[in-house]
Amino acid sequence: MAKDDTEAATVANYRESKRWFSQHPELGAPGRLPVSSYESQEQYELEKKYLWRRVWLMMGRVDEVEKPGQFFVTKVPPCDTEVLVVRGRDGEVRAFHNVCTHRGCPITWEERGKVGAFKCPFHGFVFDLSGDLAAVPDEKNFYNLDKSKYSLTEINMEIWNGFIFVHLDPEPRQGLREFLAETADRLDSFPFEGSPHYYEYQGDIDCNWKLVLYGFLENYHTQCLHKTSISPLVVSQDNPFSHNLEISLSEKHRFMSLFGNPDYKPTNVGTIASKYGIALMQVAADAESLVDCVNPTKSNCWSFDINNIFPNFQLNVVNGTWYCHRFWPLSPDKMRMVTRVYFPKPKNAGERFFQEYSKVATRDVLLEDATLGERLQSVLRSKAVEHWLLQDEEIAIQHFHHVLENFIEHEITKNP
Ligand code: FES
Ligand SMILES: [Fe+2]
Repeated sequence: MAKDDTEAATVANYRESKRWFSQHPELGAPGRLPVSSYESQEQYELEKKYLWRRVWLMMGRVDEVEKPGQFFVTKVPPCDTEVLVVRGRDGEVRAFHNVCTHRGCPITWEERGKVGAFKCPFHGFVFDLSGDLAAVPDEKNFYNLDKSKYSLTEINMEIWNGFIFVHLDPEPRQGLREFLAETADRLDSFPFEGSPHYYEYQGDIDCNWKLVLYGFLENYHTQCLHKTSISPLVVSQDNPFSHNLEISLSEKHRFMSLFGNPDYKPTNVGTIASKYGIALMQVAADAESLVDCVNPTKSNCWSFDINNIFPNFQLNVVNGTWYCHRFWPLSPDKMRMVTRVYFPKPKNAGERFFQEYSKVATRDVLLEDATLGERLQSVLRSKAVEHWLLQDEEIAIQHFHHVLENFIEHEITKNP
């Protein structure tokens, strides 16, 4: 693809004229994050008590429970529970704690499936698809059992654009739409339902959940850590550190629009693969051809947009596909990352080949990020440095830190 001189000049000017921190004095002095926030048991307990049960958390997609009886289970480690999402016979999607009301056994041990009812593996209590207790073995031997009082414990659930979110507080102070705010406004019209087919990577990583998350909030590291994987796609001669086209910080969430190298040449295999799909292997040369809700600067050097939804859900939209990352804490120094990459169902062998290629390319980048998280954690408690230094393009990290601190502070004071 030939580089357009005007476009290159625009990108260069853009970088000169924008200094993100100067637009956000509310974040305080640039780049002084206390390392202690990422290693202490105390911080982990604060997050457990004041954060996770007080926000909307993304569980999965409605296409996973298309028909009555279809269900899936999502583990939510920081809330010490598993969420069972199921479509009832009445067509309603509901969420429950995957916990039997007899003696607390998970009522399904499967991650997903399709059932007529749930039978607890321990003593055989049967729950219907609406969560009501339908049958109890040897019922007469209980004392005046009123089955209507022993339904599964329902969890608040709301759906936005096919995404199923739950809120573990029985009385959420905010609805999902209000919580998602400008992220929902921006992506209301994105055709997520057109790509229901996904592959998933899931891994437990020996580091604090924010260490990996922070790597997804800045693109500064790409030229170095991802030098041999994704860097050639988002780094160019004119933009050697891949400065972002746009960063927008709101009350809770963050948005970044990423530069793409217009001179990017895939490898030989990548060139063949890219004939059958777009994903991260091509830069948008023609901004007009994209759906309206992406690439807000309408740049012809755009690669993808990052929508980071507080606290642990990241939705990356790419031309032709979209990524969904979730970052779950398991302990102060262990986390689980779940990444799904969505595509339309492949129509032929070429498209399947492209998706397999893209899967492997994504794996390489994720492994680099995960390894980095573990390397950071290995010296986090050394006390060699007390603060991390951030540069202008790392502002979204400072914003996340600021939002998290304020959120916990607010909850401690107003809703202890
Ligand atoms: S714990 Fe479920 S039937 Fe006993
Ligand atoms: Fe990375």
